[in-house]
Order: sequence, then structure tokens, then C-alpha cells
Amino acid sequence: MIYFDFAATTPLDAEAAEVFVQASTEFFGNSSSLHDIGGQSQDLLENCREELAILLGVNKKGLYFTSGGSEGNFLAIEALLSAPKKAGRHIIAGMAEHSSIHGVLNRLDGYSITYLPLNASGLIDLEVLERSITPETVLVTVQHVNSEMGTIQPVEDISRICKEHDIHFHSDFVQSFGKIDLKKIAPLVSSFSFSGHKIYGPKGIGGVYINPAIAWKAFFPGGSHERGFRPGTVNVPAIASMTAAAQKLNDQLVQSQERFLELRAILVDSLNPIKEYVHVHQAETGSQLPSIVGLRISGIEGQWMMLECNRYGFAISTGSACQIGMQSPAKVTQALGLSSHEAKEFIRISFGKTTKREDVVKLGETIVDIVKKFKL
Ligand SMILES: Cc1ncc(COP(=O)(O)O)c(C=O)c1O
Repeated sequence: MIYFDFAATTPLDAEAAEVFVQASTEFFGNSSSLHDIGGQSQDLLENCREELAILLGVNKKGLYFTSGGSEGNFLAIEALLSAPKKAGRHIIAGMAEHSSIHGVLNRLDGYSITYLPLNASGLIDLEVLERSITPETVLVTVQHVNSEMGTIQPVEDISRICKEHDIHFHSDFVQSFGKIDLKKIAPLVSSFSFSGHKIYGPKGIGGVYINPAIAWKAFFPGGSHERGFRPGTVNVPAIASMTAAAQKLNDQLVQSQERFLELRAILVDSLNPIKEYVHVHQAETGSQLPSIVGLRISGIEGQWMMLECNRYGFAISTGSACQIGMQSPAKVTQALGLSSHEAKEFIRISFGKTTKREDVVKLGETIVDIVKKFKL
């Protein structure tokens, strides 16, 4: 089976796995225990916090570890709403946000929410954002990179607009962490979330940054870990392993992006024989993560294509893994304003560090064969 679903999750990096085992066996103490064994674990935890803060260009005082991106999104939004810059009950959110963002917004009481669609290039229209702001707007939440088509939202511009209007800005960095240098943009937002398992780290670990100037109130009562932000014994081995994985990816950032650009071009080229049916949803190169390809093949249901590819030994996706078991199509299709018929055609192919050129060619040829058999 050849894996083309790296945007859903990644295998654990071998060195990160070694770090996990070593930290689990040698630094097993509870980082809150006051004896030396707890202290060693606490030292490792703080060292990881510092290393990640350096990687992200933020103050380590604002970094908190969570069980992943979903919990990070939830707790960040609750934290920002507990300390708004001004009184108000209006929130602006991207329509194609991850389900964890929609989940936290749906459960809020007494807030009105404006959802921003995406333009044809999969980007937020900044004019629509500005027009949606009211004196009541206290929070804007827009993801950095879309998980289904890989478009990169203009975080700098959104941050500037939010600052001008005294609005908190949360951005979900789960799909950009480890893939884009975040040092310049991370300090511009009020909060961001990240996750370990998208970057060859362990599953069930991630984190959140909240600008330390924000006086948030804890969502969970009575917690002492993570300075009251999140209760529960801290998963130091997973944090150490995620930190090692993040550092490794960061060292290869430029080469990886060049390789992914080449793989993307190879895939698109290999679909040439059926090009009249293929619609790649993407932005211009500077606003597009090359490793995620979101596309439709007209007249062919994405779910059927995914199952056919699976039968031929290729793991692709119909969009966010979190949609599995639900009938709803990828969120991005709604945000793009596609018809329900078109939305069902959506598939996502995503590359990772082990993706080979020849495998991309094979996948392209297989899709062409499947389409030809179906159409003829
Ligand atoms: C954009 C985005 N945000 C959040 C998440 C959730 O992260 P986690 O699986 O760590 O909870 C995902 C994972 O699919 C994602 O793609």
C-alpha cells in the first residue's frame, strides 16, 4: 500500500520514537512531583517548551501542551473569550475551519457567528472580512493552512485588521506547523494551535500558544499542571518526541518544499490524459502548500475513487479524516460554494517525506485508468 494521506496523519519518525522510549523509561517522573525524579521530568518538559518556542519565534511563557490540535483549538478559543479586548458577542470564523473549531463555536451561548466563505482560490477575501466586523466583534478565527486543499491564508493581513479593530485572532497552525517557517507570523496572532502527529511525532499530543499578555481564565477548574491551563499529568515523553520531530522537519524545510513542488507538478502532469475532467482547487504558488492537492474529477464520486485507489494499493482521502462516518463532504467544498454534486467529487492527495516520484507517477496512471474505465 502506498500512502498519500500525510495531511491526515504521519508515521512516527524513528528518531522521535527513540526519544519517546528514552523519555518514557528514563524521565518517567510526574513533572509536578517535587522530588528529583519529578524534577528531571520537569527540566525535560521546560527544555522542550523552550526549544519549541525558539522554533516558533514566540515567548515560551505562552506555550501550553494539550492532547493535540483539536483540544488546542477548543482551549484557545475559550481562553480568548475569557479575556476579550472589549465587550461584545460577535465572532468571525472561516467556513472551512477544522471541525474542532466549529464544535467549540457551536456550543457557545449568546454569541452570533459570521462564517467567511473562500474565494475561487481557496482564500479568505479580506474585504469580506473587514465588512463582517461590527463593534461587537471580539474574535476572528481563521486557520493558517487548509487541511483539504492546502491553501495558505494571509495571516499577516488578518492580524493587522484584527489589531486595528481590537479583536483577538486565533489561527489553527496544525497543517502549517513543520511545513512552513512560522517564526514571522506566530508572534502576530493572539493564539495558535499545533499538533504532533501531522509532523511525524506521536498522536495525542500538541499545544497552544496564547500571547502571554492575555489574562485568560482557565476553562478547566482546579488544574495545576500547565500553569492551570490544562489539568492532568503532562505527557512529557510525547512532548519530547514531538519536539525532536519538529526540529528534524524544521532543518529540512526548504528542501522539502522544493521536492513537494516537483511531486505536485508530476501528479498534475500525469493526469493530463484526463485533463478535461480534472479540476485542481488551488491558490497561486506563494499561497499554496505544495504537499496537499485537493481536486475533483467530474462525474466521479470521491468516495468511489478513494475506494478504487485503495483496491489498487493507494491510500488517498476524500478530505478531512475527521469526516469519516459522516455523510457530509469536505468542509472546503461548502466554503468554495461548490454544488452538492461537485462537493461529492472531492478527493485529497497529500505527500510526505517518504513519497517517491515514481509512486506519484503510478498513482496518476492508476487514476487515469480508473477514470478511462468508468467513462468508456
Ligand atoms: C487544520 C486542522 N486542525 C486541527 C486538527 C486536529 O488535530 P488533532 O488530530 O491533533 O486533534 C487537524 C487534524 O486533522 C487539522 O487538519
